[in-house]
Amino acid sequence: VYEDSNSGSKAVAKEIAELIQVKASQKQPCILGLATGSSPKGLYAELVRLHKEEGLSFKNVISFNLDEYYPMEPDSVNSYVRFMNELLFNHVDILPENCHIPDGTLAKEEIADYCDAYESKIEALGGIDLQILGIGGNGHIGFNESGSLQNSKTRLVALDHITRVAASSDFLGLNNTPRTAITLGVKKIMEAQRVILMAWGEGKSNIIKQSVEGQVTNLVPASFLQEHDNVTFVLDKESSSKLT
Ligand code: F6R
Repeated sequence: VYEDSNSGSKAVAKEIAELIQVKASQKQPCILGLATGSSPKGLYAELVRLHKEEGLSFKNVISFNLDEYYPMEPDSVNSYVRFMNELLFNHVDILPENCHIPDGTLAKEEIADYCDAYESKIEALGGIDLQILGIGGNGHIGFNESGSLQNSKTRLVALDHITRVAASSDFLGLNNTPRTAITLGVKKIMEAQRVILMAWGEGKSNIIKQSVEGQVTNLVPASFLQEHDNVTFVLDKESSSKLT
């Protein structure tokens, strides 16, 4: 638990920077699982600062984003491609060919094979070294909504009403908000060597309590993380305020 989101984000950035550098010294790629949304924004700002001011290089980083709305054009204002480019990728020296984000432009019948190939790429690299997560108000991780199974694969999912309502201001109304998304499955998230979930603010306090102290249940997918061997929830005072 940190004083505020700023100090929490900096601590996560420090851990990521150290991992990138350890991997670089071993001449190994660093496989990062990345999230979008408001929670990791401070983290990405700090990583950009570490690159610009302290020479942190991302040349050995290979990233896999958790999710993308479907359908979604990459240059659309709300695409996660645009989000990642604007907040991180355009400001560091990561190689464009090393940045992976689920493709929101596929034809429906292409999605299943595409999702299998996304997982195969991760497996061929030896899995995710460090996975960054946010958490939805309903306990979703990635877009694995309530009811997602612990062994769920990367797939096209229907977004919960509550998730669409949370996103609707970005899309200027619920009617324009996508109903579906492509998400990394729970299984690949759970297979990551290390998981860091970030949550800020009072609005996340109930779901943080359920995820950390409640039963492990597919109604709250973040509760599956109780069974991960190397996970940390990085919280501020407000999001942690209901923990006993
Ligand atoms: C985004 C993602 C989602 C968000 C979650 C929290 O890539 O996977 O699970 O992390 O919806 O969103 P924010 O951080 O905006 O509260």
